[in-house]
Amino acid sequence: VFAHVVQAPEDPILGVTVAYNKDPSPVKVNLGVGAYRTEEGKPLVLNVVRRAEQMLVNDPSRVKEYLPITGLAEFNKLSAKLIFGSDSPAIQENRVATVQCLSGTGSLRVGTEFLARHYRERTIYIPQPTWGNHPKVFTLGGLSVKTYRYYDPVTRGLNIQGLLEDLSSAPSGAIVLLHACAHNPTGVDPTLDQWEQIRKLMRSKGLLPFFDSAYQGFASGSLDADAQSVRMFVADGGECLMAQSYAKNMGLYGERVGALSIVCRSADVAVRVESQLKLVIRPMYSNPPIHGASIVAAILKDRALFHEWTVELKAMADRIISMRQMLFDALRARGTPGDWSHIIKQIGMFTFTGLNSEQVAFMTKEYHIYMTSDGRISMAGLSSKTVPHLADAIHAAVTR
Ligand code: LMR
Repeated sequence: VFAHVVQAPEDPILGVTVAYNKDPSPVKVNLGVGAYRTEEGKPLVLNVVRRAEQMLVNDPSRVKEYLPITGLAEFNKLSAKLIFGSDSPAIQENRVATVQCLSGTGSLRVGTEFLARHYRERTIYIPQPTWGNHPKVFTLGGLSVKTYRYYDPVTRGLNIQGLLEDLSSAPSGAIVLLHACAHNPTGVDPTLDQWEQIRKLMRSKGLLPFFDSAYQGFASGSLDADAQSVRMFVADGGECLMAQSYAKNMGLYGERVGALSIVCRSADVAVRVESQLKLVIRPMYSNPPIHGASIVAAILKDRALFHEWTVELKAMADRIISMRQMLFDALRARGTPGDWSHIIKQIGMFTFTGLNSEQVAFMTKEYHIYMTSDGRISMAGLSSKTVPHLADAIHAAVTR
């Protein structure tokens, strides 16, 4: 009965790792998936995460009971505070409905299904380009997807004019996906002034912001600075949705820890919204896993652990920034044609190199460099040992 099923293509991002794993070359480098690696090229479990896990293991009162449908209550409260700020009026007025979800993707999906059932407008505008999974999550969740201009390939910066024009012509009430910081894949973020322009326009047109925050603390090294865009939108008293992930900033990739928050106009609405979120979640996966959320809650609620986390987070962010400088210097040293200053200007985990899919294919074939075909490289996967090899590959790709 399944003989007609055709072979599906690999995922454009996770499929890069599949191809990388099959390559026997000793010089291969995986710059595809956005996952942090140490200078030695190894995955990193933060010390603070190990410590929190130790505490959890040694606590005999901990059991493996089901969590509520909405997840670990303490985790939800702390997550909302982390992104919105503990002095956020929305939190103080109990206007935020937060549910624990399966990392960023799960939070986006639950939010989408909620919107498809309970919101009057079914169109979501997403930046062009955006993370490859976004359009699939929104479409399968029941929304229709349109794009707004975002990245200007000529300046390798933000096309603010195009962005504002496209959002101006969106129908009133349309949903707009915004990357809270460290835009994936471009590494290009609006300045605070530009955020303010975007906010004013969106509020005047009644457009509903749906934030994706996968890199809080990773862009600048500061948790508060990276939440500024979001906090501007919450400070004006309006509604928004927030999908939060702890994959990158706590290195909890495989634990699938995240949260969806919906900021409402009143506490009363938030209670009803939460009740409907439960109806979305229960038939999908019943309730979320307990372990990862317990680690996050343990870290966020303890002053010393929280501090330790911020230090480790900053160290990761700083290492990525130093990789940017190193790669830029290496290309300059080789006299590689082109202006590569975007490598040091872009923000977050990725550099959107400007290399085309043929150049990428060449680098993979000849140099065993694995990256997504849109020319994105994960700076977090680089080390001072692999930068020269990557610079050689880029140089060869653009001069051939
Ligand atoms: C990425 O963009 O590489 C990450 O967000 C990982 C993923 O799930 O695609």
